[in-house]
Amino acid sequence: MIPKNFSRRKFINTLSIAGAGVAIGSPQITTAGSLKTKPAILGGTKAFKPAFPQWPVFGQAEENRLQAVLNSKKWGRLNGSVVPEFETAYAKLLGANHCLAVSSGTSALYTMLGALDVGPGDEVIIPVYTFIATYNVVVLNYALPVFVDTDIETFQIDADKIEQAITPETKVIMPVHIGGSPAHVDSILEIGNKRKIPVIEDACQAHLAEWKGRKVGTYGLGGGFSFQSSKNLNCAEGGAIVTHDEEFAQKCYSFHNQGQGKQHAEYNPGAGTRGTNMRMTEFQGGILLAQMTRIAEQCKRRTQNAAYLNKLLSEIPGITPAKLYDGTSASAYHLYMFRYDKNYFAGLSRAAFISALQAEGIPCSGGYGMINKDKYVTELAQNRHYLKIYGEKMMKEWLERNQCPQNDILSTEQAVWFTQNMLLGTVNDMEQIAASIRKIQKHAPTLNKR
Ligand SMILES: Cc1ncc(COP(=O)(O)O)c(C=O)c1O
Repeated sequence: MIPKNFSRRKFINTLSIAGAGVAIGSPQITTAGSLKTKPAILGGTKAFKPAFPQWPVFGQAEENRLQAVLNSKKWGRLNGSVVPEFETAYAKLLGANHCLAVSSGTSALYTMLGALDVGPGDEVIIPVYTFIATYNVVVLNYALPVFVDTDIETFQIDADKIEQAITPETKVIMPVHIGGSPAHVDSILEIGNKRKIPVIEDACQAHLAEWKGRKVGTYGLGGGFSFQSSKNLNCAEGGAIVTHDEEFAQKCYSFHNQGQGKQHAEYNPGAGTRGTNMRMTEFQGGILLAQMTRIAEQCKRRTQNAAYLNKLLSEIPGITPAKLYDGTSASAYHLYMFRYDKNYFAGLSRAAFISALQAEGIPCSGGYGMINKDKYVTELAQNRHYLKIYGEKMMKEWLERNQCPQNDILSTEQAVWFTQNMLLGTVNDMEQIAASIRKIQKHAPTLNKR
């Protein structure tokens, strides 16, 4: 993915050609990240004074859209036209036949599981390395979430371990394109097709990510997206389902609209199915349409900065950027993820490394923990409903099935994350990140004695 000879000059040239109207790197290279200075945590100069670009980005387009909805007096999707306009535009952007806007990413996943009638006694396969919403939508249906371990090199679900997690009760395989990079789509679809189990993609972080030239979220029976504040496409809270399947689209619509199809906006006795209210408002639809005018440019910028950062960080011993699978033609880079090996940093713990980076003015975190070992999750084995549905023996076995040793290592010792807005920064920003890490590495023996 990273051209070997991707020099700074070439990178700036690429940006200059591609980035008309985009502020590119500040012309002056600061020296705070230089090896000659001490890390900020030891009293040296902080590498980043002005912060990284703020998120969200918005302007007149958002104001106009909000004002228009306000003045229309049609604030809900059942009588408005803005949410349908967004659905048409998002379906087109992704190359999907259908798009249904919903109230959140969680609603998107919950609606799809509802449309598939997932319920007590069913099992749903999910990655362990994910946001808790992926798990929550399964347990809200009293189905059994079955965790699959992580491919430590890519941070994605280990597709080679999915098949062994399948039982006769498996109703859905729900991979996540974590960080906005595609999971191994081909392998997952092959298993789903072979075992006749639908694949629902949790693409909540993966707007515009692509596998072999086609947008993720459009490969499985359905794909779910989130437009929550931190996401690359943002309307504070919101979500969408995309699918090529007309019947599934209709089922999702009904489920998200109190079991009523498009022909019955209100409750129509005798015509309903199981459902709830997961509708998006016209205000959210308006903001999304405005945000969509910027998404392609932002996406390009993240991709270019991530490629440059990959190159810079790969040259630092002990730092390994998350690998992208060969089929990846675009990552959304919702997160920039890399692995840290303390053996190359005088044994400095990941927590101390993160604190030192933060002191440089570089926001970062260790990312997700071991959700399979989280008290909230393990307590499911004693949950009275689950004991009633699955029995004590099965819930005990469930705890044993959920061991994910690779994920334990990744999430407790190695993973480090940057957020997507940092990749909207400058060439100089990327260089300062790399320089700051080198500086920390040089002073690691001193830092480790603190
Ligand atoms: C992987 C994943 N799945 C699901 C969700 C849920 O989306 P939302 O917060 O919009 O409900 C998120 C959001 O953070 C997510 O990152």
